[in-house]
Amino acid sequence: MIAASNGKKGNGMKRICAAWVPALFVPMALIVLVSCIRNGGNTRISPGEEAFMTHCSVCHVKGGNVITPAKTLYKKDLAKSNILTTTDIVATIRNPGPGMRKFDETTIPDKTADAIAEYVLNAFQ
Ligand code: HEC
Repeated sequence: MIAASNGKKGNGMKRICAAWVPALFVPMALIVLVSCIRNGGNTRISPGEEAFMTHCSVCHVKGGNVITPAKTLYKKDLAKSNILTTTDIVATIRNPGPGMRKFDETTIPDKTADAIAEYVLNAFQ
């Protein structure tokens, strides 16, 4: 009798485990897989974008302009200010208009300024 009831309990546990382990494991494995794919994909940010987020995005949220709304970083507004190339954007960073902070080479080295300019031209069409 004791042996028989033990046997039943054992089978019961096995059945519960057989159902729960895949039920928990499969969604967890999917979550891990999806987050790995996402990180390896297009969410990796460039040095230009990273520096933009650090130095510029306070005022230029999503390429806009929180202080002077007409002067966004989008191509059509840049064109109105005759800002067409990365060199023009770097010149603005070094010698900005009213309301914008000035960034010298100690704050943003030339190489980083170029990377930011490249990012701005590509990101805000
Ligand atoms: C303190 C706020 C502030 C920060 C920080 C800032 N800007 Fe600006 N930016 C402005 C304002 C205000 C203007 C408009 C200036 C004017 O009237 O000429 C502007 C204008 C510009 C323009 C010309 C836009 C146009 O349509 O004429 C560019 C390009 C630009 N900023 C790039 C940058 C970059 C790149 C950074 C980061 C390195 C940066 N800005 C950081 C406030 C800021």
